[in-house]
Amino acid sequence: MEDYLTPDPLWCITQTSLAPEETKHYEGLLTQGSGYLHLRGSYEEGLAAAPQDETYMRMPANVTVEVPRHPRSKAGTYLPGVTGQHPLLREEVVNLPNPLAMTVRCQGRTLDMDSGDIFEFSRTLDLRDGVLHRRFCWRLPLGELRCDFTRFVSQARPGLIVQRMDFCASSPMTVTLDATVDETVTTNGYCHFRTTEPCAQGQAFGVTVTTDNGDTVTLMSRCQGAPASVSANRGTLELCCGAGVPVRIDRLTLVSCSRDPQPRDAQALAAELETLCAAPDALYAPHAAVWQQLWEKSGVIIRGDDQAQFALNVSLYHLLRAANRNDSRVAVCAKGFAGEAYFGHFFWDTELYLLPFFLYTNPAIARSLTRFRIGTLDGARENAAAYGYPGAKYAWESSVTGAEQCPNWQYCDHEVHITADVVFGLWHDWKATGDRAFLEEMLPVLTETTRYWLARVQHHPDGTVHLNGVMGPDEYICMCNDSAYTNTMVRYALRVTREAGALLGKSLLTANEQEQAAYVEEHLVIPRREDGMIWQCEAFDRYEDPDFTSLWPDRTKRFGAVVSQERNYRTKALKQADVLMLPYLFPDTMDARQLQQTYDYYYPLTTHDSSLSYIIHAIVKARMGDAEEAYSLFEKALAIDLDGGAAEGIHIANCGGIWQGVVMGFCGMDWCYCRDDLHFTPHLPAHWQEVSFRIVWHGAAHRIRVTHDGVSVEEDDQ
Ligand code: BGC
Repeated sequence: MEDYLTPDPLWCITQTSLAPEETKHYEGLLTQGSGYLHLRGSYEEGLAAAPQDETYMRMPANVTVEVPRHPRSKAGTYLPGVTGQHPLLREEVVNLPNPLAMTVRCQGRTLDMDSGDIFEFSRTLDLRDGVLHRRFCWRLPLGELRCDFTRFVSQARPGLIVQRMDFCASSPMTVTLDATVDETVTTNGYCHFRTTEPCAQGQAFGVTVTTDNGDTVTLMSRCQGAPASVSANRGTLELCCGAGVPVRIDRLTLVSCSRDPQPRDAQALAAELETLCAAPDALYAPHAAVWQQLWEKSGVIIRGDDQAQFALNVSLYHLLRAANRNDSRVAVCAKGFAGEAYFGHFFWDTELYLLPFFLYTNPAIARSLTRFRIGTLDGARENAAAYGYPGAKYAWESSVTGAEQCPNWQYCDHEVHITADVVFGLWHDWKATGDRAFLEEMLPVLTETTRYWLARVQHHPDGTVHLNGVMGPDEYICMCNDSAYTNTMVRYALRVTREAGALLGKSLLTANEQEQAAYVEEHLVIPRREDGMIWQCEAFDRYEDPDFTSLWPDRTKRFGAVVSQERNYRTKALKQADVLMLPYLFPDTMDARQLQQTYDYYYPLTTHDSSLSYIIHAIVKARMGDAEEAYSLFEKALAIDLDGGAAEGIHIANCGGIWQGVVMGFCGMDWCYCRDDLHFTPHLPAHWQEVSFRIVWHGAAHRIRVTHDGVSVEEDDQ
C-alpha cells in the first residue's frame, strides 16, 4: 500500500475546509465504491452534532425541490439490490450498518472534526485508484497527534473495505480506538432492520442484519497493529504512542449478503479476514490494477482545459464506481448510490444518460444495464396489468423487481416514455454490438411493450392516433396529450420492433398486432406549429407564458421551489430539455433552420431545475456549431456536483451527460444507431487543443484524437 499514487490536481478531489455546511457535500462527492458496495465519504468517527439514528417519516414529495434532512452529515453504506419496504416511499435501497465506525479517544477527549482543535486538515480522493486519504493534526492538552487515515473499497474483491490509520504523537500518549459496525442507522429516517445480530468470531467482530424485504447482510471487521479486545460487534485497541514513533493500525471489513451467488456467514468472513490480515499490503495492487484497466478503457484526455478535465474525471470516476459490472439484477440509481434521495431507484437516466458512456467504452458494463431491463420484464408486465393494460409498462422508478416504486402519482402514472426509452436502450445496445443473440433476448421486451402501446393509444375518427394523459421529460407540465418526445420514442420503439422481427425472421406479435403496430407507428401524432416547429405537446401554446422576472427573481433557488405547483403546471415553464432531446437523439428530426427556431423557442422557457437539462442544451448548441455558448452551458453541468451539489448523492445522469457532452457534443460523434461508420463533426471550444479517447464501435475499439485541424482514428488493440 506504500505505492499510492502521487497526488495530481487533475485526478484528485481535495477538501481542505472544515466548514460545517460543506461536510455533507463532501460526503457525497467522496463516495467510494466497487459497483457491489458503496460508502459515502463520512468521517470514520462521525460528527457528534450529527447522530445517524434519527427516525422520522419522510413523505413522498417532489425530490427536486424537497428540503433534505440531515443537514450536517449522512453516513451511507449501500449494496445495490439490498432493499427494504418503506411505509410511504415504497421500496428503497437500505442504508446498511456503517462498517467504518470508530471512536477515537485521547487524554479525555473524543475526536470530532467539528469541535476538536484540528489543524493541517486535508482530504483527497484519488480518482485513479479510488483511495481516500485524510490527514490532520489533533491538538490535545498534552501534545499533538498527527493522524493519517486511508481507505478504499476494493475493486478486486468487491465486498472488501481496507482502512489504514497511521498515528504519530508529539509526546507519549495513549490513544483508544473503539471500532464497531454501527447498526444504529436509518434510511430516510426509517429503520429497515428486522433482526440485528451483533457477533464476535475470534479477532473479528461485526453484525448480521435482515431487512424487511428479507435480505440478509453480514459485515465483519478486524483490526490489527495493536492488541484488540473483541466483544460482540466491537474491537477496542489501546495504542501506546511514543513521541515521534509512528503507530499503524489496519482495519479490514468484509461484506456479504444473501443476494450474493455464494452468501457467506460471519464465521466464513472472519476466517477470510484472518487470511487477508496476514498481508494487508498486498490488497492495494490488485485493486489499483482494476481501476487502471477501467481508466484505460474509458478515460478521456482534454488538452487545454484543466477545469473540464478535472470535472470529467470526477464524472467518469463515479460512473465507473457506480455500475455493477457483474450483476444485471441492478442498474445505477439516480444518485449513483451516493445518497438516499430518489431511494436508490432506477430511471430513464439509465438508457438516455448512462448507457451511451458504457456502450461506447465498455460494452460489457452496458450489457449488465440493458439486461437489467430484460430481467425485470415480469415487473413491467405487472405494472401494465395494475393499470388494466396488456403487455409491459416499465416503471418510472424501478427497483429490483421492475415493479413501479415511484411514490408520486404524477410521474408513475404519466411519465410513460420510460417504456419506449427502455426499448431505445436495448436497440442502442444491439446496434453498438451487433450481437444477434442479444437481439433474440430482447424480443419479449419489444413484444410486450408494443402490446402495451397498442392498448394505451387512442384512435380518432380522422385516422390519427394519440397518446393522451402523459408527462414528457419536462415534468413541469403535469399531464398533457401527445407529448412530442414520448410519441417520437414510441414510434421509434414500434419501428425497431418491426425491424427486429424482420432481422430475426420472426415476431412474437400476431399478424393483427403487427398490422396495428405499423399503423400506430405511422399515425401517432407529433404536434407541430403551423410553420412546422415541434410543439412539446398538444395545445402547448395555450399554457401561460411564465413571467420569470416577477415569479423567479432569485435565481439561486429553483423555479419549482418558489412557485406553487399549480402555477408551475399551468405555465409553459420547462423543468428540463424536452423537445430538444429529439434533434440530439435523432439528428434527422430537424434541419439547421428548424433547430435554431426550436432552440430559440424553448431555451428561454427552460428553468434547468433538473440536473439532466444543461448538458443536453450544451450538446445541442455544440452540434449547432456554437461551441462557445455550448461551453458556457457545459460549465453549468460541470458545476452541478462540484459546486456544493453532491450532499444528497451524485447526479449520475449528469455525469454520463458530461461524457456525452465531450464526445457527442464538442467532438460531434454520431450515434451508431444512425450510421454504420464512425463519424465526427467536431466543434471544439477555442481553448481546447485536443481531445483523445477510446471508442468501441460495432465491436472494435478505436483511439480517437480530435483537434481543431481534424480527427484521427486508430485501431486500439484492447
Ligand atoms: C428529472 C427526471 C430524472 C429524475 C432522476 C428528475 O428531477 O426530472 O428526468 O429522471 O430526476 O434523475
